[in-house]
Amino acid sequence: MLRVVQQLCEKDLLMTQVKGTYDSDFFFEHGYFHLRPSNTHFLRNVEEATQTFHNLLKELSGGGLRTAFKNKDGKIRHWGVSNFDTDDMEELWGLDGDGCATNQILYNLSRRGPEHDLIPACRKRHIPIMAYSPIEQGRLLRHAALKDIASRQDATPAQIALAWLLRQDGTIVIPKSASIARVRENRHSASVQLSDADIAALDRAFPPPKGPRPLEIL
Ligand SMILES: NC(=O)c1ccc[n+]([C@@H]2O[C@H](COP(=O)([O-])OP(=O)(O)OC[C@H]3O[C@@H](n4cnc5c(N)ncnc54)[C@H](OP(=O)(O)O)[C@@H]3O)[C@@H](O)[C@H]2O)c1
Repeated sequence: MLRVVQQLCEKDLLMTQVKGTYDSDFFFEHGYFHLRPSNTHFLRNVEEATQTFHNLLKELSGGGLRTAFKNKDGKIRHWGVSNFDTDDMEELWGLDGDGCATNQILYNLSRRGPEHDLIPACRKRHIPIMAYSPIEQGRLLRHAALKDIASRQDATPAQIALAWLLRQDGTIVIPKSASIARVRENRHSASVQLSDADIAALDRAFPPPKGPRPLEIL
């Protein structure tokens, strides 16, 4: 597997998924290197996956985890994790995971569970959250509250849903679209300014969590 990953690094192939051993997937996305644990035997596997990750980086850079990131000639500039819940992050931080650049998680108006403890924990460590499926694969866009705010703001429901995420510190969104017009539309969500009344309306329609909830995965 190491040879395959090394070749991918050298050819700078992005968005390529490589099936790893240890019940984990390693994949590249926009220059980020993600470590994604399976949800079975998780505690044991995160340790094993981290060890595999260390070995991989040693092979690629001739050094350890930190050396690889400090080495300007290294093939991997940044790495992140995906679908790590709070306890997984704590375990990672205990396993030399200080260099983790982001945690890519399912987070949108209809999936606010991470606000209870995962997002505050990552924020404390200055680790940005990368919100995947930020418009719930399009399902959110039919919601009346989003449509109302969109018409008041002269925006679209997708822009409102994305602006709600982007107004939060340390939050990245990765909406997927096969349409250039929609990619542009989504890009412009960065300039939508939600009012306090908009935020309150969204809180009523999509209430924040009252207690801890396991991280959801799509
Ligand atoms: N780490 C993980 O476990 C994980 C899991 C799931 C997804 N992801 C990543 O997250 C990214 C996005 O997630 P996703 O594709 O699941 O969901 P998403 O971005 O919330 O929604 C994508 C869907 O919404 C539509 N869409 C996009 N912009 C729109 C707009 N402005 N108006 C109306 N419809 C719009 C797209 O259709 P069109 O293409 O036809 O525009 C597509 O059907 C993907 O790139 C994926 O790699 C990661």
